[in-house]
Amino acid sequence: MFDTLIKNVRIIDGGGGKIRTGDLAILAGRISKIAYQDEGSTHHDWKGREVIQGDGFVLSPGFIDVHTHDDTNVIRSPDMLAKISQGITTVIVGNCGISAAPVTLKGPAPAPMSLLGPDDVFVYPRFSQYRAAVEAAKPSVNVAALVGHTALRGNHMDTLDRLAKSDEIEKMRDQLREALDEGALGLSTGLAYANAYEATTDEIVALAELLAEAGGIYTTHMRTEFAAIIDAMDEAFTVGNRAGVPVVISHLKCAGVENWGRSEEVLRHLEQAGKTRLRGCDCYPYTASSSLLDLKQVNPTLRIDITWSTPHPEAAGKTLSDIASSWGLSLTAAAEKLLPAGAIYHNMSEADVDRIISHPATCIGSDGLPNDPLPHPRLWGAFPRVLSYYCREKKVFTLPQAIHKMTGRSAARYGLDERGLVKEGYWADLVLFNPDTIKDAATFLHPVRTAEGIRAVWVNGQLSYSEGAVQGSGAGRFLCRGTIRAEGFPFGTR
Ligand code: ZN
Ligand code: CU
Repeated sequence: MFDTLIKNVRIIDGGGGKIRTGDLAILAGRISKIAYQDEGSTHHDWKGREVIQGDGFVLSPGFIDVHTHDDTNVIRSPDMLAKISQGITTVIVGNCGISAAPVTLKGPAPAPMSLLGPDDVFVYPRFSQYRAAVEAAKPSVNVAALVGHTALRGNHMDTLDRLAKSDEIEKMRDQLREALDEGALGLSTGLAYANAYEATTDEIVALAELLAEAGGIYTTHMRTEFAAIIDAMDEAFTVGNRAGVPVVISHLKCAGVENWGRSEEVLRHLEQAGKTRLRGCDCYPYTASSSLLDLKQVNPTLRIDITWSTPHPEAAGKTLSDIASSWGLSLTAAAEKLLPAGAIYHNMSEADVDRIISHPATCIGSDGLPNDPLPHPRLWGAFPRVLSYYCREKKVFTLPQAIHKMTGRSAARYGLDERGLVKEGYWADLVLFNPDTIKDAATFLHPVRTAEGIRAVWVNGQLSYSEGAVQGSGAGRFLCRGTIRAEGFPFGTR
């Protein structure tokens, strides 16, 4: 007797291959058996405590959100409705140089760590304490974590607008080594942010070297995504080459009107670097980015939406240009008055996003900001939007290719063992959805809405979302670093 039987369903296994109809049985948290019609193996007498007719639906691996800032939310609001309702079964936290652990604040958290929550959420001086807190919180999704470079700097430096000294680098190395021993996936940087910008390539290499021994990954929010993007990519590849580690460019984009149309050049550069080594990227399915309000990005050619402002909460939901004209101020003067604040920047072109998202090197990561009161819609809609807008409407890739970028490729790249594929023996992280109706409902105007077309989500074999609601107690686990499975160019579908 199996725990759950899903019958006559169209299975997309996450490896990029074709859709096959079959039956799948779950037992003790894992995918126990799969019978495919095209192998003639669906004549069986399997019995399940729970039997689901899958006719007309697709069953795929649960989605892996490789780029999140859910670090403290998985503990503080473990139902994680924004994610589980999209079919996401694993989130990777600790991106863009900021992580909840290991962190010991010396004063206010260095920017942009406030994206993870107020200062009192930083209570994990050791990575193992964070891991234990996740396990105790029992979130609805699995959690795996990178260590943020800016977080390490904040732990060991008194001021961050400078290069780290050698004794400080030594302390950061010790702390990173310890976190890697305790299961961290790797290191992330956020070099565009002021608190990491003065770090040299050497400082980063000194840390990244530890990833080679441990088998970890280096991910980077680059120094710039504007005119000098190629130089910024070269810095990331230099770190990867000198340290001998895999590199992921976070939320790859050609930002700013004057930079539009360069995605072909940028992707060619990535392919060149990826010929012999793992060099990949992630992106989210929108032409707008979001982070803290940054004076350097204030520019009359782009629409900027304010998502929150400490001194002017009434500004949330308005455009910066409307606020500036109502105040009779320049854009920059108005932005200065709003700080600290959050913003959405409509700064990418459709054609560039199409090209980047459909490239085989790209995995999907939402980059959602769970602590924004009026978040960018990617927080609640990114994964269904890949399947509705980019796959079904724009047809930039097939459904199995889209799923591969959200599951199999992601698990292989980050070393999430026995996840990301519908395969006998693997953990039963699964999503059952209607491929004709799946759709993001979150918009810039109404960003907090659950997606449509998701029928059920299982995490570690337990039904965790169905009928529009979180089910049962959280079945998510903390996932320690496993083995990164190499991928090189030319990227095949498998
Ligand atoms: Zn970032
Ligand atoms: Cu990010």
